[in-house]
Amino acid sequence: MAVVNHAGSAPRFLRVLNGESFASPPVWFMRQAGRYLPEYRATRAKAGSFLELCYHPELAAEVTLQPIERYDLDAAILFADILLIPQALGQALTFGEGEGPKLAPPVTAADLDRFARADIHATLGPVYETVRRTRAGLAADKALIGFAGAPWTVATYMLAGGALREPAELRRILYSDPGFMGDLIALICDATVDYLIRQIDAGADAVQLFDTWAGGLPEAALRTLSIEPMRDIAARVKAQRPGTPVILFPKGVGAMAPAYAELAEADGLGIDFAMPWDWARAHLSKHVAVQGGLDPMLVVTGGREMEEAARRLKKTFAGVPYIFNLGHGFTPDTPPDHVKRLVEIVREEH
Ligand code: CP3
Repeated sequence: MAVVNHAGSAPRFLRVLNGESFASPPVWFMRQAGRYLPEYRATRAKAGSFLELCYHPELAAEVTLQPIERYDLDAAILFADILLIPQALGQALTFGEGEGPKLAPPVTAADLDRFARADIHATLGPVYETVRRTRAGLAADKALIGFAGAPWTVATYMLAGGALREPAELRRILYSDPGFMGDLIALICDATVDYLIRQIDAGADAVQLFDTWAGGLPEAALRTLSIEPMRDIAARVKAQRPGTPVILFPKGVGAMAPAYAELAEADGLGIDFAMPWDWARAHLSKHVAVQGGLDPMLVVTGGREMEEAARRLKKTFAGVPYIFNLGHGFTPDTPPDHVKRLVEIVREEH
């Protein structure tokens, strides 16, 4: 578990990562700043596009703080994207209106030397400035979370040139050209460590690694492509910036989740909405602070189903370190009033 360096009352979010538990757990949400909020859409329109918003420190800090102002959440998450790293390495990134991201052309072994020489900070400088501005605008009892994509998830976008549609193709590359896959993962690990350290130096209190595409890998591949690279990044970040808590979010890994929770480098583990809650409490909570689990679709539909599920989730993790969150991000059709009601339920003292 991490050592919290804050004097006095540290943010509850950080106290939970340090092993404390609360009857009313700290709460934040994946994709809490996003298209479901009218104020986000207004700021994004001012910026011009999603990517321009990511690289505009003043407006990016503004959208990072919007959900905190609206809901008084315990943590803000830096407004950026996991695909800024491939862009900074030299792969062209575009977000078409109403489409997923595109990275062009798909990465090959011939690109790696050039990517390894890229000065990523020249591109990512505005992101660090966003962190500085956000931390300055955030109350002392709120935490600021920095983040990056986990190497495997970032690699899937780099190899597929966008969202992964043919997972079998990547397993073919893994088995037929393990050297290339290993070199690509190592390159992303190095860039990610440097990126996270700059975020921490700019004011991020904790960092989270998103492994959205970890599910569906065979055990041996999961260990080499997901678990070991995340462990390596966490270890190097902690060696250079001791005391910084690290949260891992390996989506869809089911019964392999304990292999992440048991890592000495993990302070928190995000669980997706398909993970059984009782099982997670029994197998994960003795090793880490658990975070998340609520199906984001329940917040779209709202009402009693959402309220009862939220109370049950709190109850499942009563007495152990737990951070309330979703099992994946909010979708754009989430009514902001449902989020308000959800936060009220999390804040009930029983
Ligand atoms: O609020 C937050 O959670 C912080 C900011 C954040 C974004 N993306 C902003 C964003 C974070 C942490 C991410 C992570 C991210 N980005 C992941 C991992 C988590 C996950 O959702 O699985 C992934 C896979 C990406 C890549 C990505 N970015 C995709 C596939 C898309 C398109 C899908 C979509 O929702 O539009 C994005 C775009 C994106 N990233 C948006 C936001 C707010 C929407 C862009 C817009 O405003 O048009």
